[in-house]
Amino acid sequence: MVFSKRVPRHPAPDGGRLSPEMLRDFAAAGVLVLDGFVADTACNALRARVREIVDRFDPATVQSVFSTTDQTQLADRYFLESGDKIRFFLEADAFDAAGKLRGDKLDCLNKIGHALHDLDPVFDRFSRTPELAELVRRLGFADPGIIQSMYIFKPPRIGGEVLCHQDSTYIYTEPESCVGFWFALEDATPDNGCLEFIPGAHRGPLKARNRLMPDGRSVTETLDSSPWPTDERVIVPADKGTLVIFSGRAPHLSGPNRSARSRHAYTLHVIDKACRYPADNWLQRPDLKLRGFDDTCCSPT
Ligand code: FE2
Repeated sequence: MVFSKRVPRHPAPDGGRLSPEMLRDFAAAGVLVLDGFVADTACNALRARVREIVDRFDPATVQSVFSTTDQTQLADRYFLESGDKIRFFLEADAFDAAGKLRGDKLDCLNKIGHALHDLDPVFDRFSRTPELAELVRRLGFADPGIIQSMYIFKPPRIGGEVLCHQDSTYIYTEPESCVGFWFALEDATPDNGCLEFIPGAHRGPLKARNRLMPDGRSVTETLDSSPWPTDERVIVPADKGTLVIFSGRAPHLSGPNRSARSRHAYTLHVIDKACRYPADNWLQRPDLKLRGFDDTCCSPT
């Protein structure tokens, strides 16, 4: 049974101090939208920083990884070893038939992952504001750790669709503790592939678990094969500066971007360090300490 077809939306609380009503809404729907959480200037600063990072990126260095279909193993390793690095992932349609990028490299990228928040000082500051630290504390995290970050481009015309999934499938702890934080850096609309949620469906089971196998591949094991009630999904437009918080169990998706406008977003995933983090999760960070919001050390563990 779906508890509610509403995706709760509130103005961002001062200082990240989530109210009891906001916490009740989050518990009921598995998702909470906070309008105006990030100032325009901070969104612009992050976009400017990513422009600098992408300017230094040479797509030729990864073209062999993505350009041919028989490079699956290479592409898998490039992804699976990115947990403690800054790596660039191109859209499936980034290259034309002649093997050339279709346009500005910024508009050919799917995402950058997965440790910008630890390895880049501008992203580090954006990811560890006092407001976000307070918000995470109020969500009930005893000892939070930011396990991953992604800069998501959803570029014009070729931005790929993301099928319905739960993030705890990929960021699994025992007990489950993953919560996603999605920041709109540009207006996200139904036209450019905004998020969609099935509110209340986080009360259902975890339907799949992704595991790293001894041979280095990752496989996704089905735990519950019942279909998602996708007819109950709710489209969640988000103006620039909006923060969407969602449970690792909350099913969500986003459509392709066929519009002329990009849909940049930045995401963080937080887990509780008190929970067990399995060695067969794909995301491992052998060279990076798992940091929360208070500690500033970034030396290897
Ligand atoms: Fe997701």
